[in-house]
Amino acid sequence: MARRSLLVGFGGFLPDRVVTNDELAAQLDTSDDWIKTRTGITRRHIAGPNDTATSMGAQAARRALDYAGLTPADIDAVIVGTSTPDQAFPATAVRIQAELGMQQGFGFDLAAACSGFIFALSTADAFIRSGQARNVLVIGSEVYSRIVDWSDRGTCVLFGDGAGAVVLSGTDEPGEAGLLSTHLHSDGTAGDLLYVDGAVGRREMSGHLKMSGRDVFRHAVAKLSSSVDEALKAEGLEYGDVSWLVPHQANIRIIEGVAKKLNLPPERVVITVDRHANTSAASIPLALDEAVRDGRIQKGDLVLMEALGGGLTWGSALARF
Ligand code: ACO
Repeated sequence: MARRSLLVGFGGFLPDRVVTNDELAAQLDTSDDWIKTRTGITRRHIAGPNDTATSMGAQAARRALDYAGLTPADIDAVIVGTSTPDQAFPATAVRIQAELGMQQGFGFDLAAACSGFIFALSTADAFIRSGQARNVLVIGSEVYSRIVDWSDRGTCVLFGDGAGAVVLSGTDEPGEAGLLSTHLHSDGTAGDLLYVDGAVGRREMSGHLKMSGRDVFRHAVAKLSSSVDEALKAEGLEYGDVSWLVPHQANIRIIEGVAKKLNLPPERVVITVDRHANTSAASIPLALDEAVRDGRIQKGDLVLMEALGGGLTWGSALARF
């Protein structure tokens, strides 16, 4: 039996401050109705002055470790999907290692924007399958409130802050459960559809998120649909085999488009975008944490995860719980 990765721990962290659409409408030319109708978002959590990708990621990681019944001493690697690190370096992952009291193992960040969690999960799985790590913390942690332009109503209303974490653990025991496969893609020729204008290497730029919303929407529906087909075909599975869709939470209309293709009823789709908005790389692990803890996702369920983000990057992960 080849070694495979089990998803054994789940954790999430959301900052205390909740900002409703009406609060945004008090400062911007927008409305609760416009935001809800176009995106499904009603509110979002916004980081306080002391919340960072490191602090929120460490909180989510602690909760995932508790769920798994593991301690930081059991962890061989920490991989963080983030586009909003506290510093250019050290990596957020290494700062989280320090917060957890880890001096063993290794950690690094991975930049794939909203697809960051899927890319990190795939990378962690490869380390486990190769024997280079046994237990890996896979984290998505983002503070998009610090890169959106709060005067641009076309983008700032879409995002929120938060962190989610999963513990992946290798096993050689026979069984059905585990990460079945992941599929990753990127296409830099579409990079200007969704990007951040500047970073520490380009300080003369503003460092704000820019987006061609309609084009991103069009790419998202097409590429996520083909990702879903690719994932199922690789495993010889059918649409009807999927128990739960746990999508990246960007926009309810994108999510519904993919669910419709799968013929999945809304009650089989895990939705957090209404309360969290788009938390980028954190959105899938936050949604997983919620659905595992409230008992929706059960042992034996087939869970399909998918995401698209700046790059463009996109991909999927299929797991048997
Ligand atoms: N409030 C009120 N009006 C607004 C707002 C707002 N917050 N934002 C834009 N508008 C106006 C525009 O100015 C425009 O007005 P005009 O017709 O007078 O010029 C009108 O609304 C329509 O604007 P569009 O951008 O064409 O609106 P659209 O229906 O495309 O919806 C949206 C915009 C919600 C951004 C949509 O394109 C979308 O969801 N795109 C996907 C982008 C996304 O989710 N990105 C997240 C990162 S990528 C990812 O995670 C998948």
